[in-house]
Amino acid sequence: MSAFAVSRFSVAIYYIFIDRSFWREQLAVSQGLIRYRRQKNPSSRRYLLRRNIHRLEKGLSMRHRRPVFALDYIVETVEVYQRCIADSPPTPCDPILDWASDVLCEYFLTVTDHPTVLKARKLFDGFYNSDKGNQKTPVLYREREGAKHGISIDRLSQLSRARRSVRWYTNDRVPRSVIDSALEVASQAPSSCNRQPFRYLFFDEPDQVQVIAKLPRGTAGFAENIPCIAAVIGDLSNFSNSCDRHGIYIDTGLSVMGFLYALETENIGSCILNWPDVEQLERKMEDQLELQKHERLVMLIAIGVPDPEGQIPYSEKSSLDLLRTYNTPADIYKQTLNSDETNEKNASSAQK
Ligand SMILES: Cc1cc2nc3c(=O)[nH]c(=O)nc-3n(C[C@H](O)[C@H](O)[C@H](O)COP(=O)(O)O)c2cc1C
Repeated sequence: MSAFAVSRFSVAIYYIFIDRSFWREQLAVSQGLIRYRRQKNPSSRRYLLRRNIHRLEKGLSMRHRRPVFALDYIVETVEVYQRCIADSPPTPCDPILDWASDVLCEYFLTVTDHPTVLKARKLFDGFYNSDKGNQKTPVLYREREGAKHGISIDRLSQLSRARRSVRWYTNDRVPRSVIDSALEVASQAPSSCNRQPFRYLFFDEPDQVQVIAKLPRGTAGFAENIPCIAAVIGDLSNFSNSCDRHGIYIDTGLSVMGFLYALETENIGSCILNWPDVEQLERKMEDQLELQKHERLVMLIAIGVPDPEGQIPYSEKSSLDLLRTYNTPADIYKQTLNSDETNEKNASSAQK
């Protein structure tokens, strides 16, 4: 590899002819882009709606707001809103559609006239009147909860120290109500443009759990006692550009952390299970989870009631001095580099 790692061209050659491990990801990214651009399925439309509505609400909340904005995507947003309404079966409350209509109404009330805005507004007015959304007071901004949540840094720190990867569980079933509560927490995570490009698939049927739990290599020795497993799937059809492809990993990670902390508050143990990109395993998992080409399994999570007899590795964490620097971006790196160089010099002079 080192011979190839000198330029973009040589490294591209390496990954085309020698190491094909990026192919699956490239295929998934391209399939996702196609799906996003075609906007043929309801989930892609929902993603586009969430993203665009978020862009509008962000624009509305700006301190020095421009008199008119979003001209390049307001018509698209109204069109996708209209299609999402057509997609969704009538339900008493669909928070995403309600939020979208509130933000659109506020947008049209706020911006100054412009031919594009008028076009979008006409389209919006054409179907909005029959929508139940206009019967309630729009809710656009949240009050910052601030210290009202009552959780002190000490309690949060206590929780973070209490959570550790648990690999030994009792046979007890994990209550689905607890999973739901934890998922409510996970759903509040930040995500790029509020896209929320992931979904959680749970298995608590022992035979199914075992099939999934035995696929990753990192469960050797404890797969048999996992009572519940979650597969967290990233959806690449959320993104209009391949430069955003890492969003599925970042947003999933942020959501999962909330999920783990929430489980911990209910005394449910968990352990993330690595899912490296290994072709044969990917194919098997794709079949088991019935994944589509634009979806990637980001990680698995073993979940269960901790066995009081089970041991938990201590897993010491890095000190703050290693974690952070202020105003000197390369400080730690330079120090490490210097000490590596000194060690190398010492080693070679010792050999002489
Ligand atoms: C992305 C990721 C992959 C992991 N994969 C595995 C795994 O395959 N098997 C396992 O036993 N633990 C796995 N872990 C758990 C880590 O070993 C554990 O988080 C780490 O040692 C720190 O310990 P703690 O979680 O108790 O703080 C994984 C953790 C992460 C974040």
